Amino acid sequence: MAIISSKKQSPQPERPDKNIFLASESKSSYKTKKSKSKTETDEIEALLEAEATAEDKNNSNNEEKIRPQKLAEYIGQKDLKEVLNIAISAAKSRKEPLDHLLLYGPPGLGKTTMSLILAAEMEVNCKITTAPAIEKPRDIVGLLVGLQKGDVLFIDEIHRLSKMTEEILYPAMEDFRLDITVGQGKTAKTRSIPLKPFTLVGATTRVGSLTSPLRDRFGIIQRLRFYEVDELSLIILRAAKLLNTAITEDGAEEVARRSRGTPRIANRLLRRVRDYSEVKKLTPVNAEVASEALELFNVDPLGLDWTDRNLLRTMIENYNGGPAGLETMAAATGEDAQTIEEVYEPYLMQIGFMQRTPRGRVVTSAAWRHLGFTPPDEQLSLKL
Ligand SMILES: Nc1ncnc2c1ncn2[C@@H]1O[C@H](COP(=O)(O)OP(=O)(O)O)[C@@H](O)[C@H]1O
Ligand SMILES: [Mg+2]
Repeated sequence: MAIISSKKQSPQPERPDKNIFLASESKSSYKTKKSKSKTETDEIEALLEAEATAEDKNNSNNEEKIRPQKLAEYIGQKDLKEVLNIAISAAKSRKEPLDHLLLYGPPGLGKTTMSLILAAEMEVNCKITTAPAIEKPRDIVGLLVGLQKGDVLFIDEIHRLSKMTEEILYPAMEDFRLDITVGQGKTAKTRSIPLKPFTLVGATTRVGSLTSPLRDRFGIIQRLRFYEVDELSLIILRAAKLLNTAITEDGAEEVARRSRGTPRIANRLLRRVRDYSEVKKLTPVNAEVASEALELFNVDPLGLDWTDRNLLRTMIENYNGGPAGLETMAAATGEDAQTIEEVYEPYLMQIGFMQRTPRGRVVTSAAWRHLGFTPPDEQLSLKL
């Protein structure tokens, strides 16, 4: 069972987006290779290789370094911050723990960050775990019993809790009580153990998959939204400062525009751009350097990567833009259906490139044009 304290980096849970973010979270190792790479091709290879390298300690340090620690450093999500600010002040003045909180939204928008901030603001510990790591009843019991008054228990991917774990959580959340069955069959007895009042923070990318009894036990349910370009620019400028990277405002904006509304992606792209500018000795990073670098990494001006474009292209070429079902799309592109649904689709829908209809997913005219195709309605008018 993976549990760690708030002071450390959270364990990376098994998550559908892991392919993307493993690469993203890998700090480049080009530095060791830099002396050998003399030619331009070598440099580019080193950069691309750095992108593909799986794990690197430096990176988790960097990741921690740039993760905001206070509510004031948490950029954007105005509504969420307002709601939580009020909840924190009220709880503090009553000397009570914060209400249980459910955060939902696509990966990388700041759910884990927010729960760490909450614990810091409430001046309590935060225990972090992820639903798939809670296998047996004793795992969750151990976690709950170990909590001090007011502590935050953060459960990532909370939609993946087992039924048994959920049932232990109900009285724990509602009455701070554990109901434990001792013995079996007719001789079985239920014993109640009191728990210290705590705050459960759940995070999920699929709020629809939560059972309603669990959902109903959260006092605050908040959705995280994609970030605007100006908010992402601020996030990038802040991270660049912490990483000692010289970047201009328009450089930050260029990276922001390609970050799919997602801080985690913004930080990842910033690291790629930083590598590029260091290797090429092009500092500070301005818009031109940023766009050159991101072109190299196949991130287009709207932030779409190879997989996004492949999804859209397959829909257009094979299904005339849809409607096509999720499973069909997954089979045609070789991507995992859940990854498409949770990682790729939300942003494509956000920018109006894809729509969900009762008959399946449809690629919009804007997406056809972005990929250099003539949309079907315009084809018709051309023929007439
Ligand atoms: N509002 C924010 N302001 C600044 N940086 C942020 C914000 N939200 C997220 N980040 C950055 O993005 C990274 C990913 O956020 P995280 O909380 O792990 O996302 P999630 O848990 O929703 O997948 C963090 O390491 C942090 O540096
Ligand atoms: Mg997280």
